[in-house]
Parts: sequence; C-alpha cells; structure tokens
Amino acid sequence: MEKLFIPVILGTAREGRRSEAAAKFMLAQVKQAGLETELIDVRDFLHKATEETFPGQEKLGAKLKRADGYVIVSPEYNHGYPGELKLFLDTFYQEYARKPFGICGVSIGPNGGVRAVEQLRLVANEFHAVPIREAVYFRNAADLFDSQGQIKDQGYEKFAKTFLDELTWFATALKAARD
Ligand SMILES: Cc1cc2nc3c(=O)[nH]c(=O)nc-3n(C[C@H](O)[C@H](O)[C@H](O)COP(=O)(O)O)c2cc1C
Repeated sequence: MEKLFIPVILGTAREGRRSEAAAKFMLAQVKQAGLETELIDVRDFLHKATEETFPGQEKLGAKLKRADGYVIVSPEYNHGYPGELKLFLDTFYQEYARKPFGICGVSIGPNGGVRAVEQLRLVANEFHAVPIREAVYFRNAADLFDSQGQIKDQGYEKFAKTFLDELTWFATALKAARD
C-alpha cells in the first residue's frame, strides 16, 4: 500500500520562532511513523492578501491536494494563531476537504498554545476537514529546545505517537472513503 502523505505546516514566519524546532521535531516523528512527509513553511509563501496568486502557488496547491492529512504547528499569539497561517490556509479550500487536521500548539507559557489549537479546529471545520481531538502542546517553549533546536524532554515522543496514531487512523479511513 502507498504511504500516506502527511506534510507538516510550520505556521509562523516570525524571526527567531521556536515553533520551527517544534515543527522539525514533528517532521522527524512523522517520518519515524513510516509516513511520507515534508515541511511546508508559511514563510516561503508570504504574500499580500490583495494578490490573486503568488509564486509557487500552483505547485503548493497540488501538494496540499495530494496530502492525506496535515500536521499544523502553530504558536499562540495574543490568544490566537498567526495571521500569516490564516492567509496561507485561506489560499486553498477544496484541497483540505475530508482530510484530518492534526494541530500542535507552541507557547512559552504552560498552556502550549492551546487557544490557538482550539481556534484552528473551528477553521478546519469550515474547510470540510476533520480536526482530530489529539494535539501536541509544546509548553514552556523557551526552555524546551537546546541551542541546536533539539527537544530536551523525551516525553514528547510519546505525546507525538499518540497524536500520530490518531491522525493516521483518520487519514486511512478518510482516504478509503474518498476513494
Ligand atoms: C505577537 C506575540 C504574541 C504572543 N502572545 C502569546 C499568548 O497569547 N500566549 C502565550 O502563551 N504566548 C504568547 N506569545 C509568546 C509565544 O508563546 C512564544 O513566542 C513562543 O516561543 C511561540 O512562538 P514562536 O514560534 O514565534 O517562538 C506571543 C508572542 C508574540 C510574538
């Protein structure tokens, strides 16, 4: 059977973003789970909301269409998710339909970006996507990664496994139903 394709979307373009380390950690975990993946960085697709199209949009759309589900890694900014992530997501629509969204939050506080995760679930719903219950919350992010961006708390491997098991279940079931 063909491997499921589950890209990891890094949802902030901020200089110095800690979410990049979290996204790269999730990318490694998705690979370890035997899934096909790649990192999609919203920073590579920044554009003005007034622009009809931007360079690379068609290729990106084809990639999102081929995906069987998505891992979204989003920090929490003022109790929401970054505007550039919304602009990125809103560029597409039917590409996401009937596919699972697994959402991970990142914050320097103890909540791990839970408010951004919960808000993104509502957005996923409008895309006819299926937001899963499980999430990985990267808490206390200022102290969670070393200077090389490696995670210091190995407990996150277990959180990621629980999350990816659920995401894979939905990706498999929904792919069969779509086919
Ligand atoms: C504009 C802005 C707003 C923020 N608001 C929150 C917030 O509401 N709650 C929170 O826990 N952290 C907040 N933070 C801190 C982030 O949790 C912190 O930057 C963390 O490292 C995740 O974001 P990053 O990937 O940009 O580093 C905010 C950071 C910025 C830049």
